[in-house]
Amino acid sequence: MKKNYKIAVIRGDGIGPEIVDEAIKVLDCVCVNEDFTLSYEDYLMGGVAYDMTGSPLPDATIEGCMKSDAVLFGAIGGEKWDNLPREFRPETGLLKLRKALGLFANLRPTSVFDELLDASTLKPEVLQGVDLFVVRELTGGIYFGEPRANDGQKAYNTMVYSKFEIERIARVAFESAMKRRKHVCSVDKANVLEVSQLWRDTVIEIAKEYPEVTLTHMYVDNAAMQLVRNPKQFDVILTGNIFGDILSDEASMISGSIGLLPSASIGGTVGLYEPIHGSAPDIAGQGIANPLATILSASMMLRFALDETKAADRIENAVKKVLSDGYRTKDLARYGAKEVCSTTQMGSIIADYVAKA
Ligand code: IPM
Ligand code: MN
Repeated sequence: MKKNYKIAVIRGDGIGPEIVDEAIKVLDCVCVNEDFTLSYEDYLMGGVAYDMTGSPLPDATIEGCMKSDAVLFGAIGGEKWDNLPREFRPETGLLKLRKALGLFANLRPTSVFDELLDASTLKPEVLQGVDLFVVRELTGGIYFGEPRANDGQKAYNTMVYSKFEIERIARVAFESAMKRRKHVCSVDKANVLEVSQLWRDTVIEIAKEYPEVTLTHMYVDNAAMQLVRNPKQFDVILTGNIFGDILSDEASMISGSIGLLPSASIGGTVGLYEPIHGSAPDIAGQGIANPLATILSASMMLRFALDETKAADRIENAVKKVLSDGYRTKDLARYGAKEVCSTTQMGSIIADYVAKA
């Protein structure tokens, strides 16, 4: 009897449903030659959840995710919900789910596919060989700090980190570095912020547990500059919630398209796997969204949540092969496309390659 893993699926808004469908197509194909099966249960989150239930994160979604082995998520948000009070916004649903599942570590790898070197706005020689890994703290910092308020005349948020929160995310970064090139660059604003001073002091302490890893520090403004000046200098970038949000979008341009980058949010009992891009309502329903970031997120799910390394590798290799064979969705059509394909065609071609690998 094959093992069965339960996957909670959150399709969300905009292009979310289309790209998640392709990831599931690929997952179903990979299972055929593996020793496991996957079963899926759909849950609501984001604007669609608000429209149907009045809440962007219904309790049933939290409960369903908790009962699963992993969560596969598309994207949420859209103009339609932009003027709602904060508690009803789609983004609030995602932030609450991260908190509820204890997902304090967000892993965002960025590498360059040689075939897409021209797709980036950066020069190919700056990009070739880049392979970096952002470890972003995800359930603390200014996103969640109290007090927070806006009375129409004055508004504030608070950037708070406890030593414990810094220690545990630092360990994730050092553990990741041990499996990579053994370098951690911790990004903060310790020249100005107390919270960053505690961050830096704590990271230095944790580094002592990992003598093989080289630790450097960078102020966030400098890091933003260095990422486009010479991204090859980075291996693991360790940083807090808001700095990591900003730097990982910046880093995505290194790969040429934000439509390529997967992410894993871990730390609790159940991990969440999602593309780093948003719901792109402007192109939803047209069959032109790039499903690769979600397909690669599904591969991260196999690797990190289910420990199915071989299956994860098969998907990654299929993505590489599809790109080197010249298949492109519309966003990348100008860069070495032999054939421009739709969202569903792209999913089918990858599934086909996976079946043969
Ligand atoms: C991300 C997104 C989210 C964030 C939003 C949608 C709340 O930008 O996952 O990076 O800011 O964390
Ligand atoms: Mn973001």
